[in-house]
Amino acid sequence: MTSNSNKGTDQTGNRPGRLAGKTAVITGGAAGMGRTTSLAFAREDARVAILDIQKEAGEETVQMIREAGGTAEFIETDVSDASQVDAAFDRVAETLGAYNVLFNHAGTITVKPLHESTEDDYDRLMNINVRSAFLVCRRAVKEMSDNGGGSIVITASIASELGYALESLYCMTKGAVLQLARAISVEYRDQGIRCNAVCPGFVKTAHGLREISELDQAGQEWEEGALADAQGRICEPEEVSSAVVFLASDEASFITGNALYVDNGWYAKG
Ligand SMILES: NC(=O)c1ccc[n+]([C@@H]2O[C@H](COP(=O)([O-])OP(=O)(O)OC[C@H]3O[C@@H](n4cnc5c(N)ncnc54)[C@H](O)[C@@H]3O)[C@@H](O)[C@H]2O)c1
Repeated sequence: MTSNSNKGTDQTGNRPGRLAGKTAVITGGAAGMGRTTSLAFAREDARVAILDIQKEAGEETVQMIREAGGTAEFIETDVSDASQVDAAFDRVAETLGAYNVLFNHAGTITVKPLHESTEDDYDRLMNINVRSAFLVCRRAVKEMSDNGGGSIVITASIASELGYALESLYCMTKGAVLQLARAISVEYRDQGIRCNAVCPGFVKTAHGLREISELDQAGQEWEEGALADAQGRICEPEEVSSAVVFLASDEASFITGNALYVDNGWYAKG
């Protein structure tokens, strides 16, 4: 990692990273795709603040970044809780200063028939996936507007626009966050804020592997061939991180309001 934010090379011949000079906030950055993206952001010279409920994994991710010469902070935060979100952003301002990238990634899934889903299931998923995005993005658009703009990337899903059996609640929440990304892109374009969504298929993380296992236990056949038919093979978390780095960076300067499918053609196939 380099600290040079100029174009070209520094005295050692290293090129600055694609996020040099930027500060990024990542929700759900402790594990899975959030971790691989935290590491990728830092490799591209961003300073990173990770907001997550998993303290040990979050601190481990920060340690990995620091050992590689980067700058990172972990802030234990339940992003579905308004007071914790506000306290975490206050801490980001104190420790890292103004930020210009937000990766809104934290989220989870419930695999269940709709008719067996409870109000508690609904509240839990809406809180973790949707309320969190509202709380985090509400704060970020204000602060980014005050600081001259920035780039927001929201993790949506192949389930944002396609429907899946046993995932009604999940599809609702992921449709909501994709629409949030589009609405932010329209409302805040003139403040210099871009907002896009990444829409992965099945990714090899705790979330993705649990989802496949629970769907198969309920009689679906993802392991037995449906996954290969839909997307060829399972996606590696780093393949999503590459897309997020691009959208976060100035290379995507004229790209906003988009859903970038990271799915090896699943959505195109329908
Ligand atoms: N893995 C997949 O196949 C897949 C596909 C499409 C979309 N997604 C999306 O990716 C996200 C899940 O990420 P992953 O696949 O890397 O799984 P993961 O379970 O490894 O990571 C999720 C991270 O979010 C954190 N988190 C969960 N609830 C939180 C909360 N209330 N506050 C703060 N942090 C919280 C977890 O601690 C964890 O670090 C979700 O938004 C999910 O909808 C996953």
